[in-house]
Amino acid sequence: MKNSVSKKITIIGSGYVGLTSGICFAEIGHNVICIDSDKSKIEKLKSGKIPIYEPGLDELMKKNRDRLEFSTDLIYGIKESEIIFIAVGTPSNADGSADLSYVETVARSVAINMQEYKLIVEKSTVPVQTAEWIRVTINRYKGKDIEFDVASNPEFLREGSAVKDFLFPDRIVIGVESEKAKKLMLCLYEPINAEKVIVDTKSAELIKHASNSFLAMKISFINAVANICEKTGADIEKVALGMGLDKRIGKDFLNAGVGYGGSCFPKDVRAFIWISQQLGYDFNLLKEVEKINLKQREIFIKKIEESLWILKDKNIGILGLSFKPDTDDIRDAPAIDIIKNLKEKGAKIKVYDPKAMDNIKKIFADIEYCDGLDSVAKNSDCLIFLTEWEEFKHIDFDKIKKLMSQPIIIDGRNIFDLEKMKKLGFVYKSVGRG
Ligand code: UGA
Repeated sequence: MKNSVSKKITIIGSGYVGLTSGICFAEIGHNVICIDSDKSKIEKLKSGKIPIYEPGLDELMKKNRDRLEFSTDLIYGIKESEIIFIAVGTPSNADGSADLSYVETVARSVAINMQEYKLIVEKSTVPVQTAEWIRVTINRYKGKDIEFDVASNPEFLREGSAVKDFLFPDRIVIGVESEKAKKLMLCLYEPINAEKVIVDTKSAELIKHASNSFLAMKISFINAVANICEKTGADIEKVALGMGLDKRIGKDFLNAGVGYGGSCFPKDVRAFIWISQQLGYDFNLLKEVEKINLKQREIFIKKIEESLWILKDKNIGILGLSFKPDTDDIRDAPAIDIIKNLKEKGAKIKVYDPKAMDNIKKIFADIEYCDGLDSVAKNSDCLIFLTEWEEFKHIDFDKIKKLMSQPIIIDGRNIFDLEKMKKLGFVYKSVGRG
């Protein structure tokens, strides 16, 4: 990867997207100021520690330390750089809409504090027409007649492979309304060898919502088919393979399981439904995507009940808590709903996750936290798998079986081979197979 013409960039919001983008922009030669209002997060970053678990990010930060600055001073960040990325959170409101209050606050601060031309870039996932609102807000609050542009540059990185996704993306989407903004954006991404899709800001915003919703739809679709497989004795993995080899369908995102979670799909599907409604279109297809996804958690609980009958006082061991492997993120993770439900039914719960234990402790005080597989398995009436962590793929099942009270395994991620589990003598249930 070649180095770019070095630019000075400020990234406002140092969460997953902001921080990864900031560190990766430093990697391709830019000087980056990462801003966050959370003092302890910035202190951590200043002392060289990454506040999230993301493979490879640590090393990249160390390597590019001299091109990275961390600060809580928003005004300083605005004054120092020509290009300002907004990467603040856009959480869900109760009605499903995206809460854009942080975006608005940043837009106002930029307006009040800018002294010369600025390019303001949306990185956060926002509903269509947000760039227009940012433009209106800046025009309203800017003191002097200063030129500015607003661009949309949605991010497609996945937690767990964020660095690779940023540096080697399938495409880079750039939404701009002026030649100047287009030139600056192309200059920023010049070192990255990927197709650049240059569109207007509204189309760029829609590309992000539509992409995430489409991927969520693929998952719900395959989960719906998995339910039909269970009723007929067909095998979802074989069905997904046969479908996915058709290039028009593609084999990715056809893994059936307990459904999607995380900070993006659930929130973005809800926000896309909401904004469509506002625009006068009832996006029923996406409502169904969401419904199927939540239903997967209920169906999974039913499978546990069908195996254990009464859950009260049963010892249930849960392996995997994060919404997917290689992250400590538990936002909207199926594990949260499933633990709540099992607790309500009186089950005694033990859990283990390689990275997400500290986060889940903030939600559940009265479950047992274990230091590894063996302690979860010990005296369990049933083991359930909710995340396909690599270390779970190498379990010594003979040993686990001896530790358990009953050899019952319910696998929400189809991690293990059906025949092998049968041979080992387990009652083994998974999703859409057997
Ligand atoms: C998702 C998108 O994949 C990224 O492109 C996007 O940038 C990001 O949201 C975002 O908007 O910031 P992420 O939430 O990190 O990324 O995770 P994914 O790898 O997409 O997985 C999401 C969920 O879907 C996980 O719970 C995963 O277990 C589930 N999933 C995924 C399935 O159940 N089946 C599959 O086949 C694939």
